[in-house]
Amino acid sequence: MKKLKNLLKMEDLTNEEILNLIKRALDLKRGAANNKNNKIFVANLFFENSTRTKKSFEVAELKLGFNKIDFEVSTSSVQKGESLYDTCKTLEMIGVNILVIRHSENEYYKQLKNLNIPIVNAGDGSGEHPSQCLLDLMTIYETFGKFENLKITIAGDIKNSRVARSNQRSLTRLGAKVSFVAPEIWKDESLGEFKKFDDIVNDVDVCMLLRVQHERHTEKDTKAKESFSKEEYHKNYGLTKERYKSLKENCIIMHPAPVNRDVEIDDSLVESEKSKIFEQMKNGMFMRQAILEYIVGKNNL
Ligand code: CP
Repeated sequence: MKKLKNLLKMEDLTNEEILNLIKRALDLKRGAANNKNNKIFVANLFFENSTRTKKSFEVAELKLGFNKIDFEVSTSSVQKGESLYDTCKTLEMIGVNILVIRHSENEYYKQLKNLNIPIVNAGDGSGEHPSQCLLDLMTIYETFGKFENLKITIAGDIKNSRVARSNQRSLTRLGAKVSFVAPEIWKDESLGEFKKFDDIVNDVDVCMLLRVQHERHTEKDTKAKESFSKEEYHKNYGLTKERYKSLKENCIIMHPAPVNRDVEIDDSLVESEKSKIFEQMKNGMFMRQAILEYIVGKNNL
């Protein structure tokens, strides 16, 4: 594979590159040899909270032999008003080779055009989450060995979800048929067809649930949210025990996590037979390793 300059959005990758990343990540999961480069310095800048993305990038970086430079927003000069560009340019000038960035602003990376080091987008507001999308694609491909004609429904707070956007765009161009389930306030009709959960639950191959993104809600969302309880949300838009019984035998359940148990999914189903939720997290580390290898280029490993 050729070297990739940045990974900002799924559009940066061709279908062939996506499949190559999936195959490499699966090989790494099966125990393929680890290439190492102890000359690479990487900084992970998380301006929004994270458990999975941050920690799996860190493990992936250590496995690749990289030098991980600690950066905490709360103790940095960001607190003195330093701009995102100045923080990133400073890290470039002192010798950091790769930046992994999560930020609450959509397309924050547009203000970083003058950097001369690669950026891996670990999530931009409600924009995109390419590494999550790639690990989701890896999990689906690992299960079904294809994307063509798979029926995938994504249920939850679609309007505010970067995962929904990245996954819809990528799954559709890989040949899957994507539908959505959401309360009226969290629909984004520009993404595709919205259905009633009970009309499709018995016919999908992948049932992907998304978190209610309280931290992104505007005053309007919060007001609208008051019109239904957690129990009502679960009953209408969540994976209940009843709906689980209707799923096809080979259907898989996915969720990027963190999970609001008993809201998006019944607590008892999080580790049910059909659930891939924790496997997604495991796959995330291997996929992030494959992404970083790709960014550095094989010749440098
Ligand atoms: N799925 C995901 O992005 O999780 P974190 O917010 O914990 O990184």
